[in-house]
Order: sequence, then C-alpha cells, then structure tokens
Amino acid sequence: MGDILLCVNIDHIATVRQARGGKEPDPLHGAVLCEQHGADGITVHLREDRRHIQDRDVRMLKEVVRGKYNLEMALSDEIVKIALEVAPHQVTLVPEKRQELTTEGGLNVKGNFDSIVRAVSLFHDRGILVSLFIEPEHEAVELSKKTGADFIELHTGVYCNAFGTPREKRELDRLLTSARAAVETGLRVNAGHGLNAENLVPVLDAEGLEELNIGHSIVSRSIFKGLPGTVRELKEVIWRHAGRKN
Ligand code: PXP
Repeated sequence: MGDILLCVNIDHIATVRQARGGKEPDPLHGAVLCEQHGADGITVHLREDRRHIQDRDVRMLKEVVRGKYNLEMALSDEIVKIALEVAPHQVTLVPEKRQELTTEGGLNVKGNFDSIVRAVSLFHDRGILVSLFIEPEHEAVELSKKTGADFIELHTGVYCNAFGTPREKRELDRLLTSARAAVETGLRVNAGHGLNAENLVPVLDAEGLEELNIGHSIVSRSIFKGLPGTVRELKEVIWRHAGRKN
C-alpha cells in the first residue's frame, strides 16, 4: 500500500487575502510552499459566493500544482462549467449553503442522485476523477457507488468534534466501518474536515484510505509555526503511522 496523500486545502490563505481585497497572501505562493515541504497535492473550494478562492486562483493553480489538484465544488452549472474547463485531477462534490461558515454536512446523494450521475459522466468524459463528500453512513456509501463516482471523501467533522469525548469511539467506528464498506463495493477512500495532527492519528487506520484533505488546522497553525514546518509536521504523523504498521 502506498503512502496516504496529504492534500492541503489552501482556502483560508485566500480568506485572509479577501479580508483586504488585495493580493496578499497569495494562495499560489502557499501552494508552492506546501508542495515544496511535503504536501502531495492542493485542494481548493470554489464557492458560489467566491468568499475565498477566486476563479483566477483556480485557473492559475492548474499550472502551479505539481501533485494532485483537487477542486471542491457544489453541483451548480456555473461551477461545473469552470471545472470542466480547468480540468483538475479530481473534483470533490460537496453541498453548499450560502449562510454556512464551512461545509456543514455530507452530500445528500439520494436527493441529488440523477444530477450527480450526470455530473460524474461529464467529468469522466473529460478525464477528471470524481469524489463525493459524504457522511460515514452505509446508505450514502452504497448510493455513491451507484453514481459511478471514483472516490468517497468521508466527512470527519462529527468525529473531530467528538474527539476527546465519550462519543469519540462511536464516531471513529462509523468512519472505519464506512471505509471498509466503501472498499468492499470498489470505491476509493479519502477523508477530511476538522482534522489536525492529533485527531488524525486514529483515522489513519481506515481501510483503503488514500488521501486526506486538511485546511483550517494547517493554515491556523502556520500563522505561528510557518507553512513549511506545519506541513512537514503532518506528513511526519502520516509517515510515523505507516512505519508502525509496516
Ligand atoms: N474536505 C472537504 C470536502 C471540505 O469541504 C473541507 C473544508 O473546505 C475540507 C476537507 C477541509 O476541512 P478543514 O478546513 O476543516 O481541514
């Protein structure tokens, strides 16, 4: 089994830039630094309200990112069109609400089944992998497989909020069980949301886990520690865990 990939979500570098509407800090610079210091790829979310990442960022990152380029997006016609033009390696379909602070829950695969199937086929025709950001629930895993998607990304947010509380084990079990179910149905497995250097460790046991998408904790910690050191620190957590298992 290969290394678990660390894709750094750099949205919040853009959040700081947008606070003043200028050019700094530049997410493109952040992407280069992350990759130079161990990130295996870069993730951004082009939101319909453009609150952080802008269209220019998405297009320029296609040239800048050397590893995996993962674009998170809602199923809106406008964003689908941009994603098809830019052609990142992977799109991750997420639900999006205007009022939310961040993505709050997994995709409603059942309620959006037909539009997801249509989008998967459009992206596959363009050679783009498709990942569905879902809750760690059996039905969501089964339905994801039926859409033709390549990956699921397990929403780790509830587990992360439960970390260090009596609910931690139950939430971790849900993640591990869903990862196993996904692998059994032939889906590939990513995970993300709310992860940091501590709560990440038990998640690394998830069967078939290929990629982590981590943003807020990295950008927050990098304010004090710098982006290179923060990215390296997380990669070392992943490497140590792999060493322990081998
Ligand atoms: N994965 C998905 C699908 C997300 O929407 C987000 C947040 O943009 C992340 C991962 C990263 O979450 P966090 O910023 O909490 O690490």
